[in-house]
Amino acid sequence: MANLTINEKNEIIDRYQANPEQALNILVDLQFASTDGYIDQKTAQLVAKRVGVTETRIYELISFYAILKEKTQARYVLKICNSAPCRFSGEPLVSRSLKEILGVNENEMTADGLFLYHGIPCVGACAQTPFIKIKDRVFPNLTAQQIVQLISDLRAGRYPAL
Ligand code: FES
Repeated sequence: MANLTINEKNEIIDRYQANPEQALNILVDLQFASTDGYIDQKTAQLVAKRVGVTETRIYELISFYAILKEKTQARYVLKICNSAPCRFSGEPLVSRSLKEILGVNENEMTADGLFLYHGIPCVGACAQTPFIKIKDRVFPNLTAQQIVQLISDLRAGRYPAL
């Protein structure tokens, strides 16, 4: 979780008063705030210590809930909004297109290790749906053709910063 400082992680934990019953929400928020898309060991240890549970308990949560990841994921992790406003407007175009283009379901990595897509809660880009978010970058108002082009550009390495 290279993009999050210890203070930023602690702020997320403090949002839930470091309540052990909120460990799942804390882990989800940390993972979504991270550009890495997974919970690394240092973060798992920090959460365990702050909420007062064992590290084993944290890893039980990570392995039980499919939304949480403990390993680095695909080269490009494509995030799509699964909150209601997007789901009832443009988002289905994105999930359908990605499934068709990549040939995998949500949360499955492509065989070449390049792509994985998954749903995230509202990120405040509702007016830009249908969109795909990769790290901090939002590709807004996509058409089916633009999604094809984006995947092709990513494959060709045209977005080295992502
Ligand atoms: S509901 Fe999808 S970004 Fe807000």
